[in-house]
Amino acid sequence: MNHFEPYLTLLQKQLNELDRWRQTYGKTDATGSSNAREEEIREVLRQLTDKLKGNYPFHHPRYAGQMLKPPHPVAWLAYTLAMTVNPNNHALDGGPPTSALEKECINKLAGMIGYDTPFLGHLTSGGTIANLEALFVARELHPGKAVAATANAHYTHQRMCKLLNIPFIRIPVNPEGVPDLAFIRNQSSRIGTLVVTLGTTGTGTVEPLAGLLPLCREAGIRIHADAAYGGFFKLLEDELPSKPHWQLLNQCDSVVIDPHKHGLQPYGCGSVLYKDPAVGAFFKHDSPYTYFTSDELHLGEISLECSRAGASAAALWATLELLPLTAEGLGSILHSALTAARVFSKRIAEKPGFTLYMRPELDIVTWFRDPPDKSLSSLNTYNKELFQKGMDLNKEGFFLSLFTVPAEQFTTLFPGYSADEEKAVLLRSVFMKQEHEEWADTLAELIFSAAGL
Ligand SMILES: Cc1ncc(COP(=O)(O)O)c(C=O)c1O
Repeated sequence: MNHFEPYLTLLQKQLNELDRWRQTYGKTDATGSSNAREEEIREVLRQLTDKLKGNYPFHHPRYAGQMLKPPHPVAWLAYTLAMTVNPNNHALDGGPPTSALEKECINKLAGMIGYDTPFLGHLTSGGTIANLEALFVARELHPGKAVAATANAHYTHQRMCKLLNIPFIRIPVNPEGVPDLAFIRNQSSRIGTLVVTLGTTGTGTVEPLAGLLPLCREAGIRIHADAAYGGFFKLLEDELPSKPHWQLLNQCDSVVIDPHKHGLQPYGCGSVLYKDPAVGAFFKHDSPYTYFTSDELHLGEISLECSRAGASAAALWATLELLPLTAEGLGSILHSALTAARVFSKRIAEKPGFTLYMRPELDIVTWFRDPPDKSLSSLNTYNKELFQKGMDLNKEGFFLSLFTVPAEQFTTLFPGYSADEEKAVLLRSVFMKQEHEEWADTLAELIFSAAGL
């Protein structure tokens, strides 16, 4: 059966219901004029469908490249329904029901990380803007002091610091990604906020919050947890070696989690939460255009963004109704991703001709093909060729990503290699889909066969 068919029937029923509500206000000819253009719309949509087929198969477990997958059906159904109304969650004037749904979602996210009430939080249009807000708060609380983050933090932190005119300190890490505590101690008088990444974008490494927290407390440094990618793994902390770090998430001053990564949402859904609701004062502003319909807090009063899709809140709310923030709910999907990464990395580790770069902590596996001459130039060629071969095989192939590390970092971990190039180009697989659990073995076989091994 067509993947979309059962959902379209459900959608049609609810659209009919919404249409009845629209018509209670009296007829307008808005829908009439779009009906008249049905033929043209059909043609435009046909063209768009053709263009969309130019995408990589994000929906299929053959695709294990970037952090990409289609949303859960309930998310796109809810998004579509709400989007036909097009509420704007900036202010209650723009969407009272979806603003209420957003607050429900934020309460659930705060519950997941273990924040006590009162706290502050809202959805954002993504992880970058959520981090930008947290860094803005960092600046307001510690003017003149730096934001520090490791070399493995998302590249946007440094860029956002530039934008906000905050000094940025890059913390060195050892080749396993462990931050240099002595460096942080030495620099502590200059640092206002430390960014700790729980699930780095490159390798999925959970930075050691448990080791960093006491040091920061002692030095009066705030902690911002960037859990944009990793945050929902909190649900599975009992089965993660990184549990001690996840257990301290509620001690962080701010936390960013992206529902549009592991929360099954369409793009346009990040979130930021603050432990101390008093930081809301930094967002204080008057607007001559909005905030009229109620004295209640409007979400735009505590965020940097103005317009935001109410449909995003509707989609996340519907998803969390279906898959609550528990190990058995949404956690069950992350569990499949975790299992896939473990199965795949075991296959790589055991296969002659391949080496695991780092043991996966979450669902990102980094690995490489071993060239016989143990030079970086051959390693880079082998990996780039295998990456390309997977894509060339297309519908029978596999889709990975490349991951670059400095030569020195690589040769410290693999001293047998000669560094005849400045960088080592490795392979990286992100196992984000539930279907990856069943496919991890098949994917390994496809890769071994493409490599002729
Ligand atoms: C750890 C981390 N922080 C921030 C971001 C940026 O988030 P977004 O792409 O939603 O702006 C990413 C994206 O991959 C990430 O992995």
